[in-house]
Amino acid sequence: MKYLICGGAGYIGAHLCKWLARVGHEVTVLDNLSTGHRAAVRWGRLIEADIVDRAGLFRALEGVHADAVVHLCARSLVGESMAVPYDYYANNVAGTLNVLEWMRTRNVDKFLFSSTAAVFGHPQAELIDEGHPTLPINPYGRSKLMVERILQDAAQAHGLRSVALRYFNACGADEQGDIGESHEPETHLIPNVLRAALSGERVRIFGDDYPTPDGTCVRDYVHVNDLASAHELALKFMACNEGAHVFNLGNGCGFSVKQVLAAAEEVVGRAIAAEAMPRRPGDPPVLVAASRKAREVLGWSPAYTDMTRIIDTAWRWHRNPAY
Ligand code: UFG
Repeated sequence: MKYLICGGAGYIGAHLCKWLARVGHEVTVLDNLSTGHRAAVRWGRLIEADIVDRAGLFRALEGVHADAVVHLCARSLVGESMAVPYDYYANNVAGTLNVLEWMRTRNVDKFLFSSTAAVFGHPQAELIDEGHPTLPINPYGRSKLMVERILQDAAQAHGLRSVALRYFNACGADEQGDIGESHEPETHLIPNVLRAALSGERVRIFGDDYPTPDGTCVRDYVHVNDLASAHELALKFMACNEGAHVFNLGNGCGFSVKQVLAAAEEVVGRAIAAEAMPRRPGDPPVLVAASRKAREVLGWSPAYTDMTRIIDTAWRWHRNPAY
């Protein structure tokens, strides 16, 4: 199959391109390289364009054929979204509409969308399933939820087939060390812990007084290759299922910040200095997916359930990043 991967130069997108190419698909990457990396595009050609500029996007995509579009382009920092909400709605909603319009003009009828656990807001249950209320508490989560709603309308109006995959905490890296997580600024826990291990600086623990077993926040960490395998399955699913579908993607088990730190110390083989800081605004204490639907309907089975194994892949990358 031929897939257009919007955002294919980013962390999750690059892993997905490698995965799809390995199983025999042809990928074309569209990316504006604002946070993605040219060096991460190794499994298909790169088209540099910005989804917000509709005319430029259409021009850039002239002659491109795709059986489906995978859409991972987004501004994705929760804190930043509170400061510059227009940018988030412009990119994540208006930009996505441009991609959908292009698809309509070209009769491309399958759309795989990167959504997020941030659509849920404050969790009201221990395990979050697809039926959990969606009450996002920041513009990032709201922008993703808006697109989920647009996809429902598009199914009705235009017969668009879609799957929205709500990622929990994406982490880890390619086993061969070809690609990995490289954000500037870096806000995520595992890369920050590993950077601290390399620099000797202290990693900051945002809040150690949460109502959790060790006082630190609990998250569901899902390996980026497991996300990639879920995308492959979702693409197959769309080939034989109409309508707009959503799936939560997580391992279904939670690890606290302190447990992640302990696992990282085991992997790097030394103590990593840490200091407790005040809570980070907007962090829910626990966020863990009920991933039953993805397992049952897509046949997904995450391979990376062990935290040290996940961190081991990330450590390989962070010790020697290619970009
Ligand atoms: N944390 C630290 N120190 C750090 C970085 C993070 O203690 O240096 C803590 C956070 O406070 C949080 C946990 O580690 O408790 C995980 O934080 P991340 O920033 O790695 O991930 P988030 O859970 O905040 O973010 C993830 C996704 C977002 C999504 C959000 C939904 O990366 O895209 O879940 O709540 F929006």
